[in-house]
Amino acid sequence: MRAASAPGKAILLGEHFVVHGTGALLCAIGRRARVTCSGGTAGAVRVRSAYGDEEVPAASAISSVTAHHRPVVQVAREAGGGLDVSVESDIPAGVGLGSSSACCVAAAGAILGGAAAGAPAAIAAALRAERTVFAAASGADTAACAAGGVIAFSGGSHEACEAPPRASLVVASTGRAHTTADVVASVRRRAESDAARFGSLCERVAGLVDDARAALRSGDLVALGRHMAENQECLAGIGVSDAGLDRLVRAASATSYGAKLTGAGRGGCVIALVDASNAARTLKAVRGAGAEAFESEMGARGLGA
Ligand code: MEV
Repeated sequence: MRAASAPGKAILLGEHFVVHGTGALLCAIGRRARVTCSGGTAGAVRVRSAYGDEEVPAASAISSVTAHHRPVVQVAREAGGGLDVSVESDIPAGVGLGSSSACCVAAAGAILGGAAAGAPAAIAAALRAERTVFAAASGADTAACAAGGVIAFSGGSHEACEAPPRASLVVASTGRAHTTADVVASVRRRAESDAARFGSLCERVAGLVDDARAALRSGDLVALGRHMAENQECLAGIGVSDAGLDRLVRAASATSYGAKLTGAGRGGCVIALVDASNAARTLKAVRGAGAEAFESEMGARGLGA
């Protein structure tokens, strides 16, 4: 039996724009997906998860596999199949916290084994797996789930960044799930219909990502929170925020260093940058506004045992 786990992720700045070539800053959060695998029926892949128990014969087309299991089946097939795979996760699903990416990364780590754990091979396999359900994925989410910590992602590769030692995130969920591929497709239509405006927003976000990296280096939470709040304005400008997210951003902004939606938007979660001085008040504020919320470390460990 082989096992691996990977963390969920939050995007500190740059979601959506990263699909169009802008950089992004991400961190791993303190919730994880765990995958175990052992030998099974030759050629077949059996997947057990919260979504059910599915046996996929070798002859089945990948497109016929349940969407929730398809990425794991993809990784298992790349390893030759004949595997029983089991997936467990405490990452809330479908709300922008990387639950699918973390499963892809953990599956790559468990199925491909020690040589690929944490290595570019695991990231590449996880991204191929994720693209079986979300073809336009930028690769930022799988990189963050594999690398852990805080990363700057750009042009398909990433660099580790300083994680501010005192900082954490309040993660507040609207409770409404979204389909990332649908939201990304609608942003693409918007980008094509108003290329000049979208281009200037991309430039603005690129500048914010650079400024936020500098704030991370100097541990300046006030500046980092301000850049996150400005990023939220850009996300609202491309139509991916909504009334529920706006309400949580308003509630969290009053007490935290800065708040924004994280991930695809149109439902999903808000993150607020906090430290020990304002975490409890921010949790109370977003819960008072109707969210399910938890505090997460900023920069959990990446792919591992
Ligand atoms: C989703 O978590 C992040 C997006 O930028 C899509 C992607 O980067 O693949 C919306």
